[in-house]
Amino acid sequence: MAEFQWDCPASVGVGRLDEEHRQLHHLITGLLKTLETSPGAARGEARFMEIFERVVAHFKTEEDYLEAQGFPGLAPHRFEHELLLDWFRDQLVLRGSTGARPLILLVREIAEIIQRHHQTVDRAYAVWLKDPEATADSLPTGWARRGPDR
Ligand SMILES: [Fe+2]
Repeated sequence: MAEFQWDCPASVGVGRLDEEHRQLHHLITGLLKTLETSPGAARGEARFMEIFERVVAHFKTEEDYLEAQGFPGLAPHRFEHELLLDWFRDQLVLRGSTGARPLILLVREIAEIIQRHHQTVDRAYAVWLKDPEATADSLPTGWARRGPDR
């Protein structure tokens, strides 16, 4: 299997959101590197929780901004966020159970999910912000509507 690659997220043209995307990318790829070199790293679980908390805060910031801008695709975008957070909460509940998946697999999965989210639905609002004449009908589908690749 090809090694997972995630380049730095493309700009959406909004300074605060770009900075949060960059920070999330940094946190997730940093944890992946840590787990690849020492899979049992004690701080891994705490970092995974920190990533969840940052994602929650970032989604709120993004939704508030898009609402203030009148983005017509906000409802499906918000729905995508909710499904992604549901996935995250499910994984957090299972962390302490016997047979819980290795953390590195979850971090790879969340990296792929967030990367795809950024490249599809986040890119859609970036395009709309630059050209509000673009319609919601042309917005690309994201992870939630297709489901994760398994
Ligand atoms: Fe988003």
